[in-house]
Amino acid sequence: MRIRTILTGFGLALAVVGAAAAQASIADLMKHEVNPAALAFWAAGNDPPENETTAAAQARWRAAEAGVKTLKAEGARMQAPPYVLPGRWAEYAQAMADTAASAEGAIRARDAEAAFEAGGRLYDSCNGCHKAYAPSRGG
Ligand code: HEC
Repeated sequence: MRIRTILTGFGLALAVVGAAAAQASIADLMKHEVNPAALAFWAAGNDPPENETTAAAQARWRAAEAGVKTLKAEGARMQAPPYVLPGRWAEYAQAMADTAASAEGAIRARDAEAAFEAGGRLYDSCNGCHKAYAPSRGG
């Protein structure tokens, strides 16, 4: 009887750790993949740094192109285990990937105006999911 109680307690503790680990992996994905890619994406539409050299501008646009690729890939990855969650999660993840994909041509054409516009839509796609799934982030 006593052993069973201990085992049950242990099982519960493991379940809690498991849930925390799943949460942490979404946070890691955000921190290490999604957020840096989004920053690179936004940098294409933002005012360039002062006195940016041609080489630095080229690097900034190339990073934005890589950002699009990453956001598309992460959007797809988030729709499969272990990241997928119930509800509209997959829809939000796909919206992020689609928004990034929609700017591919603009970024390849080095069109800062269109990249800026797409950057606003990307921001909205992040916030849609955060409002529903990470409300403590303040939307
Ligand atoms: C499909 C849902 C979804 C989408 C889309 C999404 N996020 Fe998140 N994001 C989350 C969740 C859930 C958390 C909270 C994770 C946690 O704290 O466990 C989070 C947390 C974060 C964090 C905090 C990570 C940390 O350090 O703890 C950042 C930064 C972030 N998201 C950036 C973004 C950006 C930028 C985009 C858009 C390009 C984006 N997210 C799109 C679900 C999403």
